[in-house]
Amino acid sequence: MAKIEVDKQLEDIKKVASLNEGKNLKYCILTMGCQLNENDSEKLCGMMESMNYTKTDKLSDTDLIVFNTCCVRENAEDKLFGKLGEVKKYKEAKGTIIAIGGCMMQEKHIVDKLKQSYPFFDIVFGTHTLHQFPKDLYTKIFENKRIEDVLDIDGEVIEGLPISRNDNIKASVTIMNGCNNFCSYCIVPYVRGRERSRNPEDILNEVKSLAKQGYKEITLLGQNVNSYLKSGNVDFESDVKSFADLLREVNKIQGIERIRFVSPHPKDFTDDVIETIRDCDKVCKIIHLPLQSGSTKVLKAMNRKYTKEQYVKLAKKMKEIIPEIVFSTDIIVGFPGETEEDFEDTLDVVKQIHFEQVYMFIYSRRVGTPGDRMENQVPDEIKHKRFDKLKALVESQIQENNQKYIGTVQKVLVEGCSKTNQDVLTGRTDSNKVVNFEGSKDLIGNIVELKIVSEHMWYLKGKIV
Ligand code: SAH
Ligand code: SF4
Ligand code: F3S
Repeated sequence: MAKIEVDKQLEDIKKVASLNEGKNLKYCILTMGCQLNENDSEKLCGMMESMNYTKTDKLSDTDLIVFNTCCVRENAEDKLFGKLGEVKKYKEAKGTIIAIGGCMMQEKHIVDKLKQSYPFFDIVFGTHTLHQFPKDLYTKIFENKRIEDVLDIDGEVIEGLPISRNDNIKASVTIMNGCNNFCSYCIVPYVRGRERSRNPEDILNEVKSLAKQGYKEITLLGQNVNSYLKSGNVDFESDVKSFADLLREVNKIQGIERIRFVSPHPKDFTDDVIETIRDCDKVCKIIHLPLQSGSTKVLKAMNRKYTKEQYVKLAKKMKEIIPEIVFSTDIIVGFPGETEEDFEDTLDVVKQIHFEQVYMFIYSRRVGTPGDRMENQVPDEIKHKRFDKLKALVESQIQENNQKYIGTVQKVLVEGCSKTNQDVLTGRTDSNKVVNFEGSKDLIGNIVELKIVSEHMWYLKGKIV
């Protein structure tokens, strides 16, 4: 099924490519969401480049603009509306085709709002129809009509589409789509559908091909990676039967030096995965373990299915089995019903675990989620106060943590030149800390040993040893 689907898409790509031939057309893509969204954008870029469009960053001088949207929080949505106001004038001046896709397009009230207030768009496509973008574009160009291509049913896993990646050292590989967890604050399960795992053999072939192309670091992506192959259609002919098996197989692939994954769910973090992380030398010893809240009461209301104690116990168990392990996390402040005491519980867990990195969010009401229907919403002012308090704690911990790096020797994967200074190289430690240092550009793509000489909050400075 998926094979027939991809053949159809490749046919459509050819049709648009021949329409566009010799016209020197450009495209611009704006990616507004998470790493999965970015990986989808890489697929869109692959399709557009195969259809004879060349990439540009200039919105004012392009023939096709694609928005890959996110709706996880209100500010992600605001970004789209702001930009649409801006691109309207380019459309009027140049006839630029405007396509809007991604998670936000799965929300009916948003598409209605677009039709009402931004009727100049040309194509709307959803998360389940991303692969049909060439067909939608062909119909738009050939028949010159506005296209709405959003499906409510879960899309097939489509293999074999072209992909144009953002980086040539680190690559993301999506291992599953969708989510079955329905955390009560979260819109993702509604816009991404149920869990669908990719065939392990397709994943391994993709990683092998990345290794051949010279990629050194792989991030395995999914909304809940440790339920990989645990739900949906998982009848694959492969010895890989679980996320732990997959990690072990990826670890064997020659050329790949580092493996990361996001996001696991604490409730599904089984011992086999912990032991696999310990045993696999390439799996980085920083684990993203989304906490969301430190209060058992709030966690229950969030439908997270673990308690404060279970979370702390899990982190401590992992530390016992893998002493060098560190953690990063996601935290939401101001979920409905969160009291000062609940918030103190969150601070308490942060103090106990001492995270390497904390992604902090202010609770944002999402239409259609249980959280939005809860009556005990926390006032904005309190949410912001708590956010600032958490941020201050996290920053003081990061500073303290940075001090520990000084004088140590770290293995750093060199990613390129620093954005602000072309004479400085930049890379990351196994624990994902940015390290800047002076060295020859030949080192890009290699792992080098650096002695850490100073810390600067968001990055460290190192010297080649
Ligand atoms: N599947 C992943 C991440 C999903 S979205 C996981 O479970 O970890 C990334 C993060 O956004 C979440 O971990 C959560 O901290 C945050 N988030 C999701 N919905 C939110 C909302 N309505 N308001 C604020 N933050 C939210
Ligand atoms: Fe959202 Fe929870 Fe699924 Fe993560 S696990 S995507 S937070 S519903
Ligand atoms: Fe990602 Fe945003 Fe969609 S976080 S899954 S792009 S809603």
